[in-house]
Amino acid sequence: MTKHNIAVIPGDGIGIEVIAEAIKVLKASGLDFESTNFDLGGARYLKDGEILSDSTMDELRNFDAILLGAVGHPDVTPGVIERGLLLKMRFDFDQYINLRPFVAENVDMICVRENTEGPYIGLGSFENKGTRDEIAMQDSKNTYKGVERCIRYAFELAQKRERKHLTMVHKINVMNFAGDLWNRVFEEVAKDFPDVTTAYNHIDAACIYFVEDPSRYDVIVTDNLFGDILTDLGGAISGGIGKAASANLNPTKTTPSMFEPVHGSAPDIAGKNLADPRAAVISAAMMCEFLGEAEIANKIKAAVEKSSDASGSTSEIGDAIVALLN
Ligand code: IPM
Ligand code: MN
Repeated sequence: MTKHNIAVIPGDGIGIEVIAEAIKVLKASGLDFESTNFDLGGARYLKDGEILSDSTMDELRNFDAILLGAVGHPDVTPGVIERGLLLKMRFDFDQYINLRPFVAENVDMICVRENTEGPYIGLGSFENKGTRDEIAMQDSKNTYKGVERCIRYAFELAQKRERKHLTMVHKINVMNFAGDLWNRVFEEVAKDFPDVTTAYNHIDAACIYFVEDPSRYDVIVTDNLFGDILTDLGGAISGGIGKAASANLNPTKTTPSMFEPVHGSAPDIAGKNLADPRAAVISAAMMCEFLGEAEIANKIKAAVEKSSDASGSTSEIGDAIVALLN
């Protein structure tokens, strides 16, 4: 077994608490790894101004994977850490797939969210800023290559699953440029996967189906912003955000991929040993899978599943998961 080199960013608030449990579970799982902690996030920024410097990015580049708890601090202006750390890492390490699985009664789906383009690029313009004639434009970038690699990944994933069904979610009736490209690429790539059945839903309709009939979904592919919103809803209909895990993948493995729970730093409950560590633990299992340790990944996921009745503090749930590993 190869020794895996993992960079750990516990971050802020409950991130620190849930990551401690994820590391505890990884150690008990038999994964051969070494971890290095990076003090980054809102609290670090308030200390000395570092958000995520180029030299820290260069250090992170040498790791096999990055495990992140949550970042965000009530005393830091919203957007600073999100854009400077989280989005910087996703974009600069070209983690172009954001994978978010949802499993519960009647729900067994996985969302493939495009992770490096769309309205998240942070470009646009102001005209007449601060006046009543102000116009703010927000650009959404959709490249053929960016859309194609995301849709192809989703088809490949669907092909590996039992149902082999892929739904594209967009708003092609209104987004006449982005939607047009997504739709054309979806139809083009579909030809390479004759064994995968396909469907298309507008984002607004998908929100209804998520609530009323989530069993219709297997794999979903969608753009960055639709995927952000839809996956919060996915968490809400499948056991809550405390179980929602995610992987930010660069499938080419030329840079490290990053694994993080979907939830934030939750300053209101931070430091109280109250947070559910399951999302972080499942994210760690997704990391194991990506590192080629499928057996360990499955063992961790099964232990989390079996722990579903366990309640209690953050560390008690972590202990329960450890006890259920075999
Ligand atoms: C998520 C988060 C981030 C996003 C924020 C914190 C920038 O909501 O991972 O879903 O919008 O992608
Ligand atoms: Mn989100």
